[in-house]
Amino acid sequence: MEAVKAGILGATGAVGQRFVEALANHPWFELTSLAASERSAGKTYKKAADWRLDSPLPESVADLEVVPVDPEKVDADVVFSALPADLALGVEPAFAKAGFAVASNASAYRMEKDIPLVIPEVNPDHLGLLEVQQDSRGWDGYIITNPNCSTIVMTSTLKPLMQFGLESVQVATMQAISGAGFRGVSGMEIYDNVIPYIGNEEQKMEAEPLKLLGEFDGAEITPANIKVSASCHRVPVIDGHTEAIWADMRDAPTPEEVREAFQNFDPKLGKLPSEPEKVLIVRDEDNRPQPRLDRNMGKGMSISVGRIREGIRYIAMGHNTIRGAAGASVLNAELLHSIGKL
Ligand SMILES: NC(=O)c1ccc[n+]([C@@H]2O[C@H](COP(=O)([O-])OP(=O)(O)OC[C@H]3O[C@@H](n4cnc5c(N)ncnc54)[C@H](OP(=O)(O)O)[C@@H]3O)[C@@H](O)[C@H]2O)c1
Repeated sequence: MEAVKAGILGATGAVGQRFVEALANHPWFELTSLAASERSAGKTYKKAADWRLDSPLPESVADLEVVPVDPEKVDADVVFSALPADLALGVEPAFAKAGFAVASNASAYRMEKDIPLVIPEVNPDHLGLLEVQQDSRGWDGYIITNPNCSTIVMTSTLKPLMQFGLESVQVATMQAISGAGFRGVSGMEIYDNVIPYIGNEEQKMEAEPLKLLGEFDGAEITPANIKVSASCHRVPVIDGHTEAIWADMRDAPTPEEVREAFQNFDPKLGKLPSEPEKVLIVRDEDNRPQPRLDRNMGKGMSISVGRIREGIRYIAMGHNTIRGAAGASVLNAELLHSIGKL
């Protein structure tokens, strides 16, 4: 099988580096272009990127020259976007128009009617929107998006609760610093502190799950009839978003029934390279999940849940720059490749 040529837009940032880590030795994709701002363009990747991951910078990309974020300068079939949302607004359609498949992390197009917002284990059928999108926009390429990092953790746990008649959800998040990007939060701000506000995060958490859990009828998505109320907070953790969730359900399941629903949630995607063995890992200890101990489960692609109590109340935790960002986009692209759409 010939490798699919892959580029990264915003390759030097917090999510961009996770993309490099995920794609440098990928069995299906070959990294051919790394793009970033004019500050970085023209430099080798090792000079442009201030590499901050525990894994070493992959040798295969160290000497690649960073190019500007321009469809004319990028050589790829699929581009993974880790651009700031305001920039993505203009750049992503330009790439889709030029024939690229764009797998985006940015929020710019997530809620557009004809653009799929997908978690492969939750709503793979929404990929059908790609045809609607290409027909309506006349693009040779397309845009597919993955949700906000907190949304993806929560919504992956809500999917198995839909069978109980999920009606409303309240969530309080404790979000890692890496979620704000490399220039997002200063040490002086976050050390010995909790910041009780993350711009636009609550709106995203309240809107995106309704689209993700909605019904696709072949033409459009009817949002799920659920009410989500979110309060989002930044805490001094490097990676891993933790969420306290309260879920009200018509059938009032017991904690044991909810535990079983999480345990049995096992959507098989067909052995995609980034697919974890278990999407949800149930922890029965009173003091789990914890970001430092559990964020790398399933190579960062599993979500850990625990403290399931009457109410129903529970804790969910997932790696925000892997399952919540780069890993999510790569899994979307793998799913597209597996069904011949890439
Ligand atoms: N961090 C997370 O957990 C997370 C999770 C889900 C989604 N997201 C979303 O993913 C996107 C990237 O987030 P991040 O945390 O990786 O941000 P970041 O660390 O600030 O990185 C931003 C990237 O965009 C590039 N860039 C900035 N301005 C540019 C310009 N004018 N032209 C071209 N490239 C430009 C930067 O290149 P230079 O290095 O050259 O400046 C860098 O590669 C955002 O939309 C964010 O909301 C982030």
